[in-house]
Amino acid sequence: MAQLWGGRFTKETDQLVYNFNASIGFDRKFYRQDMEGSIAHAKMLASIGILTEEEKDQIIEGIEGILKDVEEGRLEITEEYEDIHSFVEAVLTDRIGQAGKKLHTGRSRNDQVALDMKLYTRDELMAVRDLLMELILVCQDLMEKHVHTAMPGFTHLQKAQPVTLAHHIGAYMEMFKRDYDRLCDIYERMNYCPLGSGALAGTTYPLDREMTASLLGFYAPTLNSMDSVSDRDYVIEFLSALSLIMMHLSRFCEEIILWNSNEYQFIEIDDAYSTGSSIMPQKKNPDIAELVRGKTGRVYGALMSLLTTMKGLPLAYNKDMQEDKELTFDAYDTAKGCLALFTGMLKTIRFRPQIMERSAANGFTNATDAADYLVNHGVPFRDAHGIVGQLVLLCIDKGISLDQLSLEDYKAISPVFEEDIYEAINIHTCIDKRNTLGAPGPAAMTKVIEFNRQWILNHR
Ligand code: ARG
Repeated sequence: MAQLWGGRFTKETDQLVYNFNASIGFDRKFYRQDMEGSIAHAKMLASIGILTEEEKDQIIEGIEGILKDVEEGRLEITEEYEDIHSFVEAVLTDRIGQAGKKLHTGRSRNDQVALDMKLYTRDELMAVRDLLMELILVCQDLMEKHVHTAMPGFTHLQKAQPVTLAHHIGAYMEMFKRDYDRLCDIYERMNYCPLGSGALAGTTYPLDREMTASLLGFYAPTLNSMDSVSDRDYVIEFLSALSLIMMHLSRFCEEIILWNSNEYQFIEIDDAYSTGSSIMPQKKNPDIAELVRGKTGRVYGALMSLLTTMKGLPLAYNKDMQEDKELTFDAYDTAKGCLALFTGMLKTIRFRPQIMERSAANGFTNATDAADYLVNHGVPFRDAHGIVGQLVLLCIDKGISLDQLSLEDYKAISPVFEEDIYEAINIHTCIDKRNTLGAPGPAAMTKVIEFNRQWILNHR
C-alpha cells in the first residue's frame, strides 16, 4: 500500500478497504494527462517563487523520465499505489528526492483529479470529433455518387414515396453534422481550468491560475473553487453527445442490417466486415452492424450511471465522484471503436442500385404523384386521393403496378387520365420533380451537397 496520507492514523488500512477505495486500476488510463498537469503546476510554482528553477527542472525532467519509461514499457503502473496521483508523486520522489515532495504544494487531489478528468475528456472529445469527420467525408462521397440512385422511402417501414440513396444518406449526414457541432459546443463550455481550486476553497499560496490555464490550453481558469472540484457536467454532456452519436449509428446499422437481408438485397456488406456461422455454411452475417447497435446500450448506461451518481451530492468533493471513471472510459472507448468500424463498413458496402430502383418502382411509391397528376388537371386533392386509392386496389387485384395498368383502366376510374400519366408516374420523374430544398430531387440535392462541402471546409 503506497498512500499519500497516514499521519493522523494509528492503524493500517484494512486490505479490503484499501482495495475498495483504490482507483489505480482505472485512473491509470489518464497517466499522461496527470503528468501534463503536474508539469504545468511545477512551472507555475517556480514562477511565483515556491520552487527554485533547479527544483522545477528536476521535477520536469523527473516526470518526463517517468512518462517515457511508462510509455516504453520499462515502468509499470501497479496496484501497489492508491491512484495515479500517488504513483507519479511516489516514483518522482523516489527518483529525484526532496524536490518531488514539493510538487503537491498548493494542490489537492481534488483539483488534480478534476483537471485530469477534464484533460482526458477533452482529448477524447477531439478524437471523437476527428472520427466523426471521417464518417462525414464518407457520407459526402456516397451522396455525390448516388444523386440519381432511386430507392423507396419508407414510413412505418412501408414503402411510401421514392427517394434517392443520396437523400437517404443525407439524412444521416445531417445527424452527424449536428453531432459534430454538439461536440464543438461542449468544448467551448468545458474548456476552463480547475487547477488551483485546491481541496475546495482555493489556497493561501499566490498561485497564478491564469498561467496554468494557459499552459494547459484552457481559455481561462474556472471561477468557483467548490464548483471546480465537483463539476462533472462536461462528462455528462459528452456522454450525452456520445449517446446521440450511438443512437444515430444504431439506427443506420438497423437499416444496413435490413438492406443486407436476403429479403431486401439493397446492399452487400464487404466480406471484411461480415462473419460466418459455425454450422450454416451459406451464412454471411452483419455482426459489426449488430454489435454497434448492441453497444449503444452500454453508452446510454454510462450516461445514466453518472447522472445518478451525481444527483444527490452535496458540495464539494465526495468520493462517490470516483465512480465517474470506469463506465465513462468504457463509453469513450466503445464510441470511438464503433465510429471507426462503422465508417470502414460504410465505405466498403456494395450498393445494388438496380434492386433498389426495382423496389422503388414496385409498391406504389408513385401513388402520390398519380394523385398530383389529377390535381394538376383540376381535380381537388381529396377526390384525387380517392381515385388513386381505387386504382391501387385494382392493381393489387391484378397483381401489377400503377405503370403497368392500361389507359382504359385509368380512364374507367377517371376520364381525366391521358397517355402522359405514364411519364408523370415514372420513378425518375417522381424524384426529379421533388426539388423543394431538402427534398430528393437532383437540383435540390446538388445544392445540399454543395452546402455540405462548404460545411466540411469550415470545420476542418
Ligand atoms: N481517486 C480519486 C477520484 O477519482 C481522486 C481524488 C481523491 N480525493 C480525495 N479526497 N480522496 O476521485
